[in-house]
Amino acid sequence: MVAERISVIGTGYLGATHAACMAELGFDVLGVDVDREKVDQLSAGRLPFYEPGLEEVLNRNLANGRLRFTSDYAAAAEFADIHFVCVGTPQRPDSNAADLTHVTAAVESLAPLLTRPAVVIGKSTVPVGTAAGIAERIAELAPAGSEVGLGWSPEFLREGFGVHDTLHPNRIVIGSDSERVVSTMRELSAAQLAEDIPFLVTDLQTAELVKVSANAFLATKISFINAMAEVSEAAGADVMKLAQALSHDDRIGGKFLGPGLGFGGGCLPKDIRAFMARADELGVEPALSFLSEVDAINQRRRSRTVDLARVLIGGGFAGRRVGVLGAAFKPNSDDIRDSPALEVAATVASLGATVTVYDPEALEKAQQEHPELNYAHSMLEAVRDAEVVLLLTEWGEFRDVDPKQLAKVVAEPRIVDGRNALDPEHWRAHGWTYRALGRP
Ligand code: UGA
Repeated sequence: MVAERISVIGTGYLGATHAACMAELGFDVLGVDVDREKVDQLSAGRLPFYEPGLEEVLNRNLANGRLRFTSDYAAAAEFADIHFVCVGTPQRPDSNAADLTHVTAAVESLAPLLTRPAVVIGKSTVPVGTAAGIAERIAELAPAGSEVGLGWSPEFLREGFGVHDTLHPNRIVIGSDSERVVSTMRELSAAQLAEDIPFLVTDLQTAELVKVSANAFLATKISFINAMAEVSEAAGADVMKLAQALSHDDRIGGKFLGPGLGFGGGCLPKDIRAFMARADELGVEPALSFLSEVDAINQRRRSRTVDLARVLIGGGFAGRRVGVLGAAFKPNSDDIRDSPALEVAATVASLGATVTVYDPEALEKAQQEHPELNYAHSMLEAVRDAEVVLLLTEWGEFRDVDPKQLAKVVAEPRIVDGRNALDPEHWRAHGWTYRALGRP
């Protein structure tokens, strides 16, 4: 087996990052995507999305010849004996379940071309039980039959930290019943294992579950503190101080305990829904019914943010001017999938306000998805003459803004801090009416 040549199928956030980082670690990598435009763009050294530091890694490895991209599955089967499946598994339009079309298409395209022993490692987030079905399908389709081994190795990278998280994962999980697959994964991980990273071997089902349960736990932690924010609002308590006090108990910890507008993006929301749908199919629906509350708490933060803005502006939104800071689902990303910021902005606009949005990276994508909103190319431009400012994604440039400077351009110094990113006393001292989620 030629261990140093790998293919990475699917070049979205996960696949493009994985391909470039594997090349960075010294492997010869062929990225495969059915989208020719994406292949051309990546081959020219341009990323179709914003990810700090990734474009440099991409260009360095294109230049040294270790990284190439193609739309041709036959080229991938010829080139590599290890294939990573990194295609997306979005929410289905008609239900909460995961759409496995891309995973199925990748397997059906690749497997018939595998004429010699090979290892296929799935990284996509899939409902538990999917991999076992894929193993059967590969055995049916691949000319090399049982010489093709399957493993599932979930990916835990965070957007915005993709390069770091791929090069320095906090654990590597491989689910497989094939010793050959496990030892291949161990060899591939050797560069990272030098740093003493836990390497966990499981069955296929457990590996699939590790990923969705990790995301379910993170979502639950965020919704827990946001539920405390709701109670704090009713009781006149301060959820930021509460979270700080909780965080000193190291059984609880302070990470993912940030109260605010809640979680969005292409992972957490759809993963908890797909997890519930799968539990339903498995006949254990009650085990995960709490996740529907997690989802509901998260959605309520969005409407609560709209309500706070309404209170501040003193009535209806019709004809009012609203400045929105942030469109991406979180800072350091241009990803607007299920973005809480854009949902709030669009709701306020649908209620009759003139809404102007600024985001350091996500403007282009936001404009395509929400042409009904206005867009500005700077923070000051977005809030000029605004009667209320909504801070909805906590980019560093918003955290650091000088309230005096902003006060000069707005119509009224009123702000809703949807991410608890600002110091209320500092803003109030400069004449702002400041409201935040979960604080008096
Ligand atoms: C998430 C997981 O963190 C990754 O481990 C996982 O690999 C990834 O999903 C995936 O399944 O591919 P990501 O969606 O990039 O990563 O973003 P997170 O950093 O998890 O943030 C998710 C959302 O939670 C954001 O909207 C963020 O604003 C929100 N959040 C996060 C809070 O509202 N409060 C917090 O304290 C932390």
